[in-house]
Amino acid sequence: MNSLWINTLKKNKSFPSLSKDIETDICVIGAGIFGLSCAYYLSKLGFKVIVLEKDSIGEKTTGHTTAKITSQHGLFYDYLVNSYSEKFASDYLKVNEMAIKNIKKIIDSEKIKCDFEYQNSYVYTTKKSELSNIKKEVEVVQSLGLPCEFVTKVGLPFNIEGAICFKNQAQFNPLKYLYGLCNGITSNNNKIFTNTTVTNIEKFTDYTYLISSEKNLVRAKFVIVATHYPFINFPGFYFTKMYQSTSYIIAIDTKKTLFNGMYINSTDPIFSFRTAKIAGKKLLLIGGGEHKTGKPSCYADTYGILEKEAKKYYPDCEILYKWNTRDCIPLDKIPYIGEYSTSLPNVFVGTGFKKWGMTSSNVAATIIVDKICNKKNRYEYLFNSSRLKPIKNKDELKNMIVQSANSLVFDKLKSANMSFKDIKNDSGSIIEINNEKVGIYKAPNGKVYAVKPVCTHLGCLLSWNDIDKTWDCPCHGSRFDYRGKNIYDPAFKDLEYYDLNNDY
Ligand code: FES
Repeated sequence: MNSLWINTLKKNKSFPSLSKDIETDICVIGAGIFGLSCAYYLSKLGFKVIVLEKDSIGEKTTGHTTAKITSQHGLFYDYLVNSYSEKFASDYLKVNEMAIKNIKKIIDSEKIKCDFEYQNSYVYTTKKSELSNIKKEVEVVQSLGLPCEFVTKVGLPFNIEGAICFKNQAQFNPLKYLYGLCNGITSNNNKIFTNTTVTNIEKFTDYTYLISSEKNLVRAKFVIVATHYPFINFPGFYFTKMYQSTSYIIAIDTKKTLFNGMYINSTDPIFSFRTAKIAGKKLLLIGGGEHKTGKPSCYADTYGILEKEAKKYYPDCEILYKWNTRDCIPLDKIPYIGEYSTSLPNVFVGTGFKKWGMTSSNVAATIIVDKICNKKNRYEYLFNSSRLKPIKNKDELKNMIVQSANSLVFDKLKSANMSFKDIKNDSGSIIEINNEKVGIYKAPNGKVYAVKPVCTHLGCLLSWNDIDKTWDCPCHGSRFDYRGKNIYDPAFKDLEYYDLNNDY
């Protein structure tokens, strides 16, 4: 299901796929907001840049986000002060506030019409028991120098106990912004190639790299890995440090006058709200239903709870769009920005932006650009990509190890408890055929699609996602459509496909 942004954008530009070998200064892999921000800044500095994108512009996370541009990353600053230091929290706040200004500067200088508007951002609670956490966050953020406020009245259509308000935050249409960045990149004679899958990066000389797509090679001095999840496993080991989370969004016409502001609540179940103007109409976006990618979930717990929430306050509302998105969550909650690995000099990465990729991607781009220009960036220490500090989020670390072990070993040994005839049309499951596990999807017309249900990233057993009709990996979040075509990284190879239609 495609997002509101993808469904309503009239694309005025398309890009070719790579069809010959190229030499360049900088090769950016991935055309989401982070990759294109890097390419934009480097183009303006006069570097020769090319961007290689596996799908089309912003088709993955950036095209499916709620696109809140804010330094308010949930209730986060008290956590940062306690887990790191006051200076760490203060710098994190400053650099994310700076990102809002940087994005506005790009929009103004490129004259990008992307529906940018300043909004207040709120983390609220409806529970008395949560009030002390909100008040504590207000105290901490004020002490870090941002004049935030504690409020009890907001625009939401229900009562709250209290909220922390950050002023002068913003929202926009993320895809329109990306197309503006593309114009800025190509107007400097730099090139963007879509539908071009990168399969490998290898050192060519001490100062250059060879980047392979399926058919061609790019030779570059610097490489920026701006894929959603880093796809090179060794070195880097990002698969040991991050998991993916899926969340759901609906866009509704409330048939009522809507409020201002961007909102998220402080505890589960999480709901997020913002408005968006589409074709002169103000719609309400409601997000939530989050779960770890690959963990089986049902409609009622995902879109269902959002629809219920919408109908509670707007009984006559019309649901116009629904979609879901995936975010990379670092176990210590801090993005990874910098060198991909100490053994790959001049290869850079930006990932793990959690659900706050609009500001984090700009922060990452400014740090990487400074590194390429050999300039010291005073905020780079916050996001050190080769950090080896003990993981603070011990519960998640334990979950990830247990989940990976189960999916890699134990789940593969367990026998499947479904048989072919148990699978209903328009549904899927893993069954056993001749002692081999086979992933079956029966289309609404009964046609059978069969795949080897083993992830092409690191071999975890996949699980069936009955909402999207995909095979999802519980280990690091790769996804494949029912025909086995890879649709989400870190895997980039398709699943093995079996033709069973003559047998069943
Ligand atoms: Fe890593 Fe599937 S995503 S094993």
